[in-house]
Amino acid sequence: MPIHLPPISRRRFIARSLAGGAALAFGPALMAAGKRTDPDSWALLSDIHLAADPALLARGINMTDHFNRVTREVLALPKRPAGLFITGDCAYNSGQVADYAHVANLLEPVRKDQVPVHLALGNHDNRERFWEALQQEKAAKRPLADRQAAIISTPRANWFVLDSLEKTLSTPGLLGQEQLDWLAGALDANRSKPALVLVHHNPGTIANVGGLKDTEALYAVIRPRKQVKAYMFGHTHVWSVDQDSSGLHLVNLPPVAYVFREGDPAGWVHATLERKGMRLEFRCLDASHKAHGQVVNLRWRA
Ligand SMILES: [Fe+2]
Repeated sequence: MPIHLPPISRRRFIARSLAGGAALAFGPALMAAGKRTDPDSWALLSDIHLAADPALLARGINMTDHFNRVTREVLALPKRPAGLFITGDCAYNSGQVADYAHVANLLEPVRKDQVPVHLALGNHDNRERFWEALQQEKAAKRPLADRQAAIISTPRANWFVLDSLEKTLSTPGLLGQEQLDWLAGALDANRSKPALVLVHHNPGTIANVGGLKDTEALYAVIRPRKQVKAYMFGHTHVWSVDQDSSGLHLVNLPPVAYVFREGDPAGWVHATLERKGMRLEFRCLDASHKAHGQVVNLRWRA
């Protein structure tokens, strides 16, 4: 199984921190060595839109600031999460190598705290430049050589991270037949645990914002395979939780970066896997937002 951006050693982290000043911002995390890991706890992030320039503002917010605030909160959890996902749009706009270098730098405190990071790609990413900048991702063994897809097996669920980047800066996404075929086979080979599918693009049927072009083909794979309990996505920069007629949960993860509609909340979701479902807690960057702390309990379909 591929492990992307695995934890890094303390020694290497300190050397890099001294160069980048990150130790100051993440001082408390350095004390977290004795913390226990909760295998059912996951940090779900989406649409971080990090630019090489840490001072860059978009729609009135500083993306680096938002991201650092979120990772600091993740690191401050009483128990260490088992992993951190970012469901695409890792880069600000067009997926530049320097954007990914900044992503890697800002992720170092998380990895130093022994939290593995799993990255998916969105329409503002560029796959080749992503792999060029993140050599560990390039070297990771992937089930599909030319896509950033992965299975992460955990005690209570298997996470399937898919790659819906069709063309950088083109809004809609596409999984493609090869990836769908692989997904179908991988699901058939892993029936015993709930499966959770993570994709950058929203189902095309939910909102007309250039979603997943092959939504129906994806549904044809995941709806009849009852071990698939949720399809989780970003892209729309909106937080919402829905369920289709087959009982499949549709979870739209909020953006860490900017929102498109004034008043919408940005933030991240703390997911806790349970025996027959999953608890989602929305952590807003604006703690005074009415959605902050909202808890949604998902129950798995039979
Ligand atoms: Fe985005």
